[in-house]
Amino acid sequence: MDEAGLTARPGGPLRGRVRAPGDKSISHRALILGALAEGETQIEGLLEGDDVLRTADAMRQLGAEVTREGVGRWRVAGRGALAEPSDVIDCGNSGTGVRLIMGAAAGYSMTTTFTGDASLRGRPMLRILRPLSQMGATYLARAGGRLPLSLGGGNLEAVSYRPPEPSAQVKSAVLLAGLNAAGSTEVIEREATRDHTERMLRAFGAQVDVEDRGEGRCIRVAGGQRLTGAPVRVPADPSSAAFPLVAALITPGSEVTVEGVLLNPLRTGLFVTLREMGADLTVENEREEGGELVGEVTARHSALRGVEVPASRAPSMIDEYPILAVAAAYAEGATTMRGIGELRVKESDRIAMMAAGLSACGVDTLEEPEGLVVVGTARANHRVAGGGLARTHGDHRIAMSFLVLGLGAEAPVAVDEPGMIATSFPGFHKLMAGLGAEIG
Ligand code: S3P
Repeated sequence: MDEAGLTARPGGPLRGRVRAPGDKSISHRALILGALAEGETQIEGLLEGDDVLRTADAMRQLGAEVTREGVGRWRVAGRGALAEPSDVIDCGNSGTGVRLIMGAAAGYSMTTTFTGDASLRGRPMLRILRPLSQMGATYLARAGGRLPLSLGGGNLEAVSYRPPEPSAQVKSAVLLAGLNAAGSTEVIEREATRDHTERMLRAFGAQVDVEDRGEGRCIRVAGGQRLTGAPVRVPADPSSAAFPLVAALITPGSEVTVEGVLLNPLRTGLFVTLREMGADLTVENEREEGGELVGEVTARHSALRGVEVPASRAPSMIDEYPILAVAAAYAEGATTMRGIGELRVKESDRIAMMAAGLSACGVDTLEEPEGLVVVGTARANHRVAGGGLARTHGDHRIAMSFLVLGLGAEAPVAVDEPGMIATSFPGFHKLMAGLGAEIG
């Protein structure tokens, strides 16, 4: 992996039409459900980033046949069950990969040992191990439930689980384990999180009941259901599309269109927020593709103003706060983001990383335990100063956010460890260069 720094230089307008890589959440799920299912799953548009390639390898280790047939075209031949892997499963940097696979593996009478890179080995896994233990799985982990850990599965009992944290990963792990538990497993989430697992389970022939009640959304799956392989068309990832789109919003004279972007309302909180900030962001050709809403999203340079982002919106834009903080740096007035404590346990402590990097680039911020306030520079009628080195702590989204920040700044912005960008957005650098960005 290339660990030399990258620098973004302020330059001319960004213009063009691009396709962002496949959605990361849907890509992981397509491989995992394909391996659990009987028969063949043909995937189109799979994200070929390091996180997802690790999941593809893991599915091979767990007994599925996984073949790459062309760019983004993958075939998974599942056996209707997972088999005990003969070696440790290394999920690299991917929290989604390891947590969903733990849920799926827990349903089988076997021992699976998981590890990951330094960032993943520091991230909390008890949020998954707790409900899986309630269902009857056993584990041996490092202090605090950290990786590496071994999970013993099989003979699970259904549970009714209310995750304390709003997390699609936790919900998905419990539902996947529930497929092989005795009885009906339910997850009750106070705030709805991304529902790709539920949608895809249905596409693979499972019955998933969803009910909105006063206490939240209840999702239920009966144990013992068989999955059948099905075609999956992966839309462009809105979390990746966000980078070229925000780059266009902050760079004078720009107009950028990203094609085929996933517009599932549980993923579009950033777009809602940017519009509230005054962004000229339009959607065309909205349509359904492979059971998900998609469309072409166009951003034009806009005068932005600071807003207060409602805490209830966090689940629908949880990965987008770093790039929102960049848009906020270019806005007039302050942008307040609260109820985002989960950001502290992502690939890095994203609240701390954004606060530190923005300060290094001349932007005032206020860091709170579960929030971040960014004071926009527009009123002072000059651009973001830039000129800083943003430390990324190996976090792909922090790296891309600061490279975007540098495109509109007065002085170049450098980031360390840009190699990590390949975990979610291989070709980021080339795609941005094609739009006219100076990143090198
Ligand atoms: C994801 C859920 C989110 C998100 C992650 C992908 C998923 O994590 O941050 O990038 O695919 O389910 P949490 O469930 O921990 O919020």
